[in-house]
Amino acid sequence: MERTYEEYKEIVDTHILDYLPSIDEKSITLYEAMKYSLEAGGKRLRPVLLLATCEFAGGDVYKALPYAIALEYIHTYSLIHDDLPAMDNDDLRRGIPTNHKVYGDAIAILAGDGLLNTASEIMDKDMFMYFDNMESLQRRINAAYVITKNAGCQGMVSGQVSDIQSENKKCSESMLRYIHSNKTGALILAAVQAGLYLAGADMDTFTSFSIYAQNLGLAFQIHDDIIDVTKSTDELGKPAGSDKEAGKSTYVSMYGLEKANELLDKAIKDAKMSIEHYYDNAEFFTQLVDIMARS
Ligand code: IPE
Ligand code: IPE
Ligand code: MG
Ligand code: MG
Ligand code: MG
Repeated sequence: MERTYEEYKEIVDTHILDYLPSIDEKSITLYEAMKYSLEAGGKRLRPVLLLATCEFAGGDVYKALPYAIALEYIHTYSLIHDDLPAMDNDDLRRGIPTNHKVYGDAIAILAGDGLLNTASEIMDKDMFMYFDNMESLQRRINAAYVITKNAGCQGMVSGQVSDIQSENKKCSESMLRYIHSNKTGALILAAVQAGLYLAGADMDTFTSFSIYAQNLGLAFQIHDDIIDVTKSTDELGKPAGSDKEAGKSTYVSMYGLEKANELLDKAIKDAKMSIEHYYDNAEFFTQLVDIMARS
């Protein structure tokens, strides 16, 4: 790979605000609230994955950028809503007060709505430029479709519903797996598949990297469950112990810390195995699993 994680992240951070719509002066609070959460930072895992898989499969990073940014807008909206009192009721995110703590619940809900809709606008606007090139347009439609589909009722939103409905009760192992695959896995899978669609990747790459992404998504959320009990609020930038307080069904509450770590190791191994036939060429992606799911 030509670039490091930090280099992809730098591209995302540099351009993250470029795609905010210019809005009427009367809506300045909406603009400020959207900007507040976008600027708060974060790891930018999903856009980095999108750009990296696109480049790995021979695509152009800057042409993929609108889709990477749109995905980060969707992720950021999901965090704003996830933190609301009616959902996880958390006060801290990315090391600063959550959106609703600063702007109030109503504006936080609307800032999330604004980010979600802007994401679609960004992708649609990009597609308008390719009406004279059917092949390029098709790749973009595929990328936009997998992003919006996996963010919605066949992905993240459904996972969030099950997460909420599983609070304070003992859910089944398959339900817990469903929650993790959807609330977190779906956007990570969308990142990888959108990157590959944009590059016009071959079938083998698409299949291998999809399995990689599913296992990375699972590993990432098991790790998130683990660090909720093993790390401090300062280290996390979000409140430690929040899952227990909310009575969440997590890998730690279901299996205990030791077994959760074993299941994390298995997901990490499975992620790496799915792309091992790319040898050193896919080293970026094997290292990324360790950075994201072990640190
Ligand atoms: C937090 O996502 C929500 C989960 C799916 C665990 P991230 O851990 O990617 O959050 P940021 O974007 O780095 O803040
Ligand atoms: C969040 O899962 C998944 C989303 C869709 C935002 P969590 O509720 O575990 O994420 P954190 O721990 O608040 O970041
Ligand atoms: Mg949650
Ligand atoms: Mg939460
Ligand atoms: Mg969590």
